[in-house]
Amino acid sequence: MQISEEQLIQEALKAKERAYCPYSNFRVGCSLLTKTNKIYTGCNVENASYGLCVCAERVAICKAVSEGDRQISTIVVSCDTDEPTFPCGMCRQTIIEFCYAGNDIKIIAIGKDQTKPKYSKGSEVIPFAFVPKDLNVDPQLENK
Ligand code: THU
Repeated sequence: MQISEEQLIQEALKAKERAYCPYSNFRVGCSLLTKTNKIYTGCNVENASYGLCVCAERVAICKAVSEGDRQISTIVVSCDTDEPTFPCGMCRQTIIEFCYAGNDIKIIAIGKDQTKPKYSKGSEVIPFAFVPKDLNVDPQLENK
């Protein structure tokens, strides 16, 4: 059965509870849906050596890609902020990497009130983004 947006949001909320963020206390959860109808989740994972902190979105994307599941259709990011917050610049660049030709990625941001999500898409979040094409690479030709 096709996974609903609501189910995906619930998975992001659960992932947020698993955030390892003793330094910032800023919990982030992420869930993503692939074209194979699978959900991958991630949370932020911090480190005493602050520069090693990894965002929830990149954890989820790396989990999917490392399972060979690269065709991402939707990403949900969830924080405890009053207003929904969108992925940071590094995560936006990572999301765009997987916006293959003809496959944009829907981004859903959730704040404290999960009933009021905000929406965007990969193609919108970085103007003049640096993409595989700039390196004359077609990711679809890369080994699958
Ligand atoms: N963080 C994410 O997980 N995703 C973002 O898009 C923004 C920031 C994490 C990193 C760090 O653990 C904490 O939030 C505060 O910056």
